[in-house]
Amino acid sequence: MTLLLTRSPEEGRQDLEAYQAEGGFEALRRILGEGRPPEALIEELNLGKLRGRGGAGFPVGRKWGIAAAIENEHKFVIANGGEHEPGSKKDHLLLEKYPHKVLEGLLLAAYATGARKGFVYIIDEMEEARISVERALEELSGAGLLGEGILGTEFSLELHLHLAPPTYVAGEETAVIDSIEGGPAKPRGKPPYPSEAGLYGKPTTINNVESLAQAAVLLRMGGSEYAKTGTEESKGTMLLTLGGRARNPGVYEVPFGTTYRQLIEELGGGTRSGKAIRALQPAMSSAFLGPEGLDLEISFEALTRAGSSLGCGGISWIEEGQDPLPRLMTIAKFFADSQCGQCPPCNMITSNFLHVMQGVKAGKPGDFAGAISKIAAFAAGKGRCGLPSMDAAPLASGIRLFEEELKTRLGS
Ligand SMILES: Cc1cc2nc3c(=O)[nH]c(=O)nc-3n(C[C@H](O)[C@H](O)[C@H](O)COP(=O)(O)O)c2cc1C
Repeated sequence: MTLLLTRSPEEGRQDLEAYQAEGGFEALRRILGEGRPPEALIEELNLGKLRGRGGAGFPVGRKWGIAAAIENEHKFVIANGGEHEPGSKKDHLLLEKYPHKVLEGLLLAAYATGARKGFVYIIDEMEEARISVERALEELSGAGLLGEGILGTEFSLELHLHLAPPTYVAGEETAVIDSIEGGPAKPRGKPPYPSEAGLYGKPTTINNVESLAQAAVLLRMGGSEYAKTGTEESKGTMLLTLGGRARNPGVYEVPFGTTYRQLIEELGGGTRSGKAIRALQPAMSSAFLGPEGLDLEISFEALTRAGSSLGCGGISWIEEGQDPLPRLMTIAKFFADSQCGQCPPCNMITSNFLHVMQGVKAGKPGDFAGAISKIAAFAAGKGRCGLPSMDAAPLASGIRLFEEELKTRLGS
């Protein structure tokens, strides 16, 4: 089932005409044409149980509802396309090839929440996405779908493209706000949450670009129709990225409820090496699952039950015969390099994780598993953003899974 990836990659970028030919902007035209009240959109999203695709799975209707309920003549909407997690390419793909899907979602978010200004946020190495979004904004303005009095109604929206520094934390929502305000794109303390007091202290709705594209589809289909897809708590589809260890790497769209095995074997062609998978990681910041993870259904609830998380869906794995240590080192190094330096606990946690892992790599004897689990316990809830926990989840679970193997090699 495809809601978002409706064209073959050979067809290239979808322009406004092609998007409208498949029903694009029908939702916005109908809603504005019928003068539907903003609350009706939020009700539809809640009916369709749409959850955010940026990692945390927060209900989109609830987020829009918070900003909508606050009286303020200045409100903002932001499409978060700051995708910088290794292994995830879905937001790049959406912005490069399907920019109008994201922009229709952003327009609908602005209408529902009462925002009159918004931003598409990308990191400044996303050249193809930048060109695609700039063209899309021009196309929309030319068609009367952006600016003053959209489609002849009272609804107006001004949209800008914002280029952020190419760092991992720049994608965190308060870092997004910091960057647009002219800061260094570092996370700020919460609360207040952006929906209440975000950009310039005003109610700001920030959603992942896929969440917005899904919202546009849901509002076209209707919430009850959308809710017929997926699982009990996870409706619709999700974009997932398979990396170079798959025979056919790429971004795939699957309905929630598909298993990882179906995705990897049937769509991704299995492992390039032909070897079996012995540990699966749903995203770089998610806990490892053993081989039983392959038969897990892809859904927010199943991953939580299994002690992991969907994250942004950049999937990787460890195969039979593959040494897990390089992958664990990559994770420890990535998070230590990505921490932004402003929260002492985060700095300490990420460098301690790396230090312990370097000890394992150097063959230093000692209770590395005990050390990793102590740092992981300390990491819970620390720092202004979730980075320490995002480092702890894969390292603690990876060490648990591979402890014996690593010990044998250290002779301890
Ligand atoms: C370190 C860090 C990096 C993040 N990077 C991104 C990102 O690149 N894109 C994104 O949409 N969300 C990212 N997030 C999550 C955002 O803070 C926020 O939850 C998300 O944009 C909300 O969108 P959603 O509700 O539509 O899922 C990141 C969070 C953290 C802690």
